[in-house]
Amino acid sequence: MRLIVVSNREPYRLESMRGRGGLEKTVGGLVSALEPILRKNGGVWVCWGRQSQRTPLETKITDDFIIRQVPLTSRDVSEYYYGFSNETLWPLCHMFLNRTHFNNKYWLGYRRVNRKFARAVVQTYSEGSKVLINDYHLALVPNMLRELGIKDKIFFFWHIPFPPYFMLRFLPQKRELLEGMLGADVIGFHTLHYIQNFRECVREILGAVYDEEAIYWKGRKIKLKAVPLGIDVSRWESLTSQPKTVRYATNLRRKLGVEFVGIGVDRLDYTKGLEEKFLGLDRFFEKYPSFRGKVSFIQIAAPTRTKLEDYMDIKRRTDEIVGMVEGKFGEPGWVPIYYYYKNYPDERLASLYLMADFALITPIIDGLNLVSKEYIVSKRDLNGALILSEFAGVSVQLREGSIIVNPFDPDEIAEAIYQALRMSRREKRERMEALREKVIREDIHWWLRNFLEDIPA
Ligand code: UDP
Ligand code: G6P
Repeated sequence: MRLIVVSNREPYRLESMRGRGGLEKTVGGLVSALEPILRKNGGVWVCWGRQSQRTPLETKITDDFIIRQVPLTSRDVSEYYYGFSNETLWPLCHMFLNRTHFNNKYWLGYRRVNRKFARAVVQTYSEGSKVLINDYHLALVPNMLRELGIKDKIFFFWHIPFPPYFMLRFLPQKRELLEGMLGADVIGFHTLHYIQNFRECVREILGAVYDEEAIYWKGRKIKLKAVPLGIDVSRWESLTSQPKTVRYATNLRRKLGVEFVGIGVDRLDYTKGLEEKFLGLDRFFEKYPSFRGKVSFIQIAAPTRTKLEDYMDIKRRTDEIVGMVEGKFGEPGWVPIYYYYKNYPDERLASLYLMADFALITPIIDGLNLVSKEYIVSKRDLNGALILSEFAGVSVQLREGSIIVNPFDPDEIAEAIYQALRMSRREKRERMEALREKVIREDIHWWLRNFLEDIPA
């Protein structure tokens, strides 16, 4: 059985690799989760390419892992990726109606590029292949593949929140979007809640019927599955046990010279609640002055979709609020918030997770959130605490063990930080054990087995 993974995002920065050699992974949950699968099992990864070549370009990563790029023009990228994917679907699905742009040109570009992807998949497909299409960029591909004659089962996974009917109804192309997805045989979401929203949308918009297990549409049965994505646990365990990771963590911890360190790792996206997090930290230092000089927080804010005005806007606002907290509380010799607008490789993240006493993850809304799972697996000594937004999809899995907060309430965040810092060693251990048990059991191989049904682990 040959696996064909289809996603917009490429797993590695192939442009820079061609020049210098070496694989630099791209940033985002989808790539973090699926890359280890193809590395282990082999297969083809169909993704975008920005070269001027007219035919899809292939790059061999290992003997049986090939990346096949779909060449996109700059107009494609602007209308399909920045436009319909990231200025229409992304904000709409994350319930930001005020940031959602409706533009028919974007839609036409989206349809055109989805067709290019579908053709590229057909070119690489052979009977018996398993096709796994990913995410909101490619919702029309499942039905296009069916129309192009693919007979094997088509799997489609939606990695972001699926919105309720009262949001999706604003989208002029909602019907076509749902029909595109229903070309798949199995559609996956991270949580049952997203499935309920999807069902409600197909009922209201298409008049389709469903039962507990599936949707029935045009004489076909489309299975729905709630399977939250997992991480490559063995990779994180091996990273955090390497002497150089441990050494880096120990040295950094010493240099910081404080009693407690917190960590946050996010793409700098308006859904990630960075402003809310910093307002929570501001409230914490205000309410608990005895912790000033004793706690430093490190925030990695990885650049993302930087050409879009909404992302420039959130960058300005985040810079400003970090400056406000620094200016208000910082002193020579103590920095309350270290803030880095950069991408870090996972080896470096492993050291940061390892040395942090608590992780503060406060998205306003998030499809899942893999960073919280990475933190848990990295805390091998069980001496940490996870503070997690109730609006991250992963809170369904990680409720038991973490400190759940509403990111819109700075007092709640401040209290959660206080609770994490005052927690006994024993309580931390018990909570971490519960969390680790879940994350280790429901890892990326578990996800693959459950979603694709019969792939070997
Ligand atoms: N990540 C990374 N380098 C960075 C920031 C993030 O490799 O500088 C990775 C992080 O380890 C995680 C992924 O990006 O695997 C983010 O996934 P998550 O599900 O938390 O959020 P998403 O970015 O997909 O919305
Ligand atoms: C989220 C999406 C992914 C996307 C990632 C990074 O995780 O679900 O599909 O790849 O964000 O965003 P980007 O626009 O850089 O691919």
